[in-house]
Amino acid sequence: MSAPVHPLETAALRRWRRLRAEGSVAAAQAVLWDALAQEPNLPGVHVALARLRWPGPDYRHWLTWFHQHLQPRVYLELGVEHGHTLALAGPQTRVIGVDPAPKGDPLSRCAGPARLYRRTSADFFADVPSDSGLADTGFDLAFIDGDHSFDTVLDDVIGAERLAAPGAVLLLHDTVPLTAETAGREQRTGFHTGDGWKIVPCLRALRPDLHIVTLPTAPSGLTVVTGLDPSNTLLGERRAAIRESYARLPPDAALSAPSRVLALGLNDPDAMRRWLRQAGGGR
Ligand SMILES: C[S@@+](CC[C@H](N)C(=O)[O-])C[C@H]1O[C@@H](n2cnc3c(N)ncnc32)[C@H](O)[C@@H]1O
Repeated sequence: MSAPVHPLETAALRRWRRLRAEGSVAAAQAVLWDALAQEPNLPGVHVALARLRWPGPDYRHWLTWFHQHLQPRVYLELGVEHGHTLALAGPQTRVIGVDPAPKGDPLSRCAGPARLYRRTSADFFADVPSDSGLADTGFDLAFIDGDHSFDTVLDDVIGAERLAAPGAVLLLHDTVPLTAETAGREQRTGFHTGDGWKIVPCLRALRPDLHIVTLPTAPSGLTVVTGLDPSNTLLGERRAAIRESYARLPPDAALSAPSRVLALGLNDPDAMRRWLRQAGGGR
């Protein structure tokens, strides 16, 4: 059973809607921040703030766009839950989903051939199932949206890179933190995106050979990576040291200067089309 909505959230969202309808965006935003200053766990207020911060197409719109633009032969998704994003793959795409605790029947709305592996991404990568076909073909598009802790996202990137086909595109969810409270390792709020955002500064620092851009899309960003090299072992070799140093990285700079830390691009399909052409994404 979900927790009852806090009365402060109901009141703040009502005022926010009215001010937004009147075109008073700054005042609408102030109402939301004031509410969070009184009570840090108001999930509806966090979502409203995220939508105000990043207008335009949201992450599901972008998933659809990448499927249509890239027409991947093989799509790998880590963390499928109900299957909302799995269902965005086209009929020509072979879909592979991985989730230890999926909800309902996540494959029911997939248009093409699809398989679900009920296990953690770590178990999946430790022994990649031969019937997934991944060892033969690799993937053309992958979406990492499972456990959002930095340590797991790092391992997911390491595991996925080994299976990348030439020109593969990797998408990482929840890479733009909204507030310090919602972007830490421990979950303390209903709206929680975890500290997986640290993967962006980590890859930019350690893998300058990769092409990386982060779409400022609601609710919490989507990072696009190309130039993957299955033979590159650097991240795996330095895994322990990387974990140790990024555990200490505070979110302050990512919150105050996201463009500098997270390589923000534009929430615009034409700009992404140009970026992908230059970054060698696609077949
Ligand atoms: C945010 S939901 C995924 C939502 C889905 N991608 C979408 O947008 O429709 C996160 C999912 O990750 C799964 N998950 C958690 N830890 C995981 C892990 N270690 N490996 C794979 N999936 C994991 C959870 O069970 C949950 O269903």
